[in-house]
Amino acid sequence: MNLDNAAIAAREKLAIELAQQAGEIALRHFRQPDLAVSNKGLQDFVTVADHAVEQFLVERLAEAFPEDAVLGEEGGLRGNEDAGRPCWVIDPIDGTDNYRRGLAMWCISIGLLIDREPVMGVIHCPVLGELFSARQSAGAFCNGKAITVSKETEPTRSRINLGYSRKRVPPATHAAQVERLLQAGCEYSRLGSAAIGLASVASGRYEGFWEAHINAWDVAAGICIVREAGGWANDFFAGEGFSQGNAILACPPGLKPFLTDCFADGLNSSADQG
Ligand code: IPD
Ligand code: CA
Repeated sequence: MNLDNAAIAAREKLAIELAQQAGEIALRHFRQPDLAVSNKGLQDFVTVADHAVEQFLVERLAEAFPEDAVLGEEGGLRGNEDAGRPCWVIDPIDGTDNYRRGLAMWCISIGLLIDREPVMGVIHCPVLGELFSARQSAGAFCNGKAITVSKETEPTRSRINLGYSRKRVPPATHAAQVERLLQAGCEYSRLGSAAIGLASVASGRYEGFWEAHINAWDVAAGICIVREAGGWANDFFAGEGFSQGNAILACPPGLKPFLTDCFADGLNSSADQG
């Protein structure tokens, strides 16, 4: 099954519509005092809204494109991820910890892979009123307006977005990476949503996003959006990235030499740094 541009564009159109509808579902639960939250692990939460949005997306995608596979954070892989077959990679809510606290930085992230290559991405931030989208070779957009990465080249004028999850990375490793950034004169932020972090690199608001280990659903859409905005991202899906996660580094071209050096120890050896 080989997908042409029109077939990818049709999927992008649907992804934008579904992301907007999913945003409405999530907003109905947002800041409700009785929001049901459960614990998946240390500092790892899931809410009733994560499940409701994932179920909605999986059902609608299966209706529209029954032959496509779907990988979701809450339900895993549905369908076969055969060669050439499109695979949707969805995070129903990225930034769940922000969401459960009533903070604004959360989004719905819908990516599309073909042969483990991100070819389309939609990130919808309902509270911010921003929808980021991109399709391979068609540019990147925020609310329909073209976006590009920062032209910055100097670490001393840069702010890098960081993520951290303690499942696979010891606190000391993270602390050492923060220290290296600070020693180089860089600033950093932690938004609590990797997808919004990547969208923020694509739109030039930050000069990079780094997380030493993260899952496919957090980054599939964002990688496509960053690359289409003129940025660079490592080959996250190399090796076991699809099923086991990987390190993610995304940045404008001007900061790539500094950041690949700064995080060289954490960039997975199977990830393409070229
Ligand atoms: C998390 C967020 C966070 C990142 C974690 C992710 P979730 O996703 O993107 O910023 O640091 O690694 O797991 O759990 O909110 O979907
Ligand atoms: Ca999530």
